[in-house]
Amino acid sequence: MQEIYIKQIHEYQDKIKSTLYSFTREKEFYKKEVMQAMEYSLLSPGKRIRPILAIEFCRMCKGNFENLYEIACCIELIHCFSLIHDDLPCMDDDDYRRGLPSCHKKFGEAEALLAGDALNTLPFEIIANAYKDSKISAEIAVKLVDELSHAVGINGMIGGQAFDMYSVKMKNFNIQNLNLLHELKTCRLIEASCVIGCIMANADEATIEDARAYGKRLGYAFQITDDILDVEGNFDDLGKPIGSDKENGKITYVSLVGLDKAKDVARHQTLEALKILEKFDNNELMVDLTTYLLNRKK
Ligand code: IPE
Ligand code: IPE
Ligand code: MG
Ligand code: MG
Ligand code: MG
Repeated sequence: MQEIYIKQIHEYQDKIKSTLYSFTREKEFYKKEVMQAMEYSLLSPGKRIRPILAIEFCRMCKGNFENLYEIACCIELIHCFSLIHDDLPCMDDDDYRRGLPSCHKKFGEAEALLAGDALNTLPFEIIANAYKDSKISAEIAVKLVDELSHAVGINGMIGGQAFDMYSVKMKNFNIQNLNLLHELKTCRLIEASCVIGCIMANADEATIEDARAYGKRLGYAFQITDDILDVEGNFDDLGKPIGSDKENGKITYVSLVGLDKAKDVARHQTLEALKILEKFDNNELMVDLTTYLLNRKK
């Protein structure tokens, strides 16, 4: 990425981290361990792609995002919950995340379960509070709840995780099935990140649908790249175990069509995403970031 955009991304990441920190400050004795588990996972070194997408889409739609970091971070809370639960022994059973022991390894399974639960509901408190504090209108609050709840719920990421589990037992699991699985477990939250940015800027419906279409393409490319990195990546860069998918018998783009074809599809989806980005003004950072994500090592 270009130097000025890297600098901007670092500024966003710092502000996102301090906003995330502000959510877990109170630690009364009865909830201390769960709060510590939430804080541990939230503050661990993730890329923060989703809140950055929200901020950038808000900026491209000429919205004022400076006072709305809490809203942009809602999607990171939900993402973080999805990762904590994804790593549990009853799910992917992975011991490392973001270069550190997974939440349940550090704090125990029950604590990780509750930390994930709490991170899944906190965004809705944050949105309601933003309305009560007159930071957003009632209409925007409802739009945000509508978008987020659908993206995370049984017709979104959670439904995708259910499908991911079930896919292991399915006979004749094909590429259409895999696309739907990716759409649910990964694209929905990435789409919602972009859409939330537009909602924060009070953008019109047509713009919101362009943002959603971009997010879907980016989401496909992102999950295929994640599947490729599970084969080709290395632990030091990635911070999570390599070969987890194979160990769990998961069908991925790589296992279904091979590495070369998987890379072609990720590239194609990225190009489609870039085409949609052309509809947005001031998109230079986003163009750079979209291209960078295709070639990421972590
Ligand atoms: C990992 O997401 C889970 C997927 C949907 C592939 P990220 O690659 O964005 O993880 P962090 O937040 O940077 O750790
Ligand atoms: C991620 O899929 C989907 C989620 C909703 C968390 P993976 O199981 O491939 O994600 P990683 O590789 O563990 O980050
Ligand atoms: Mg998984
Ligand atoms: Mg996993
Ligand atoms: Mg993976």
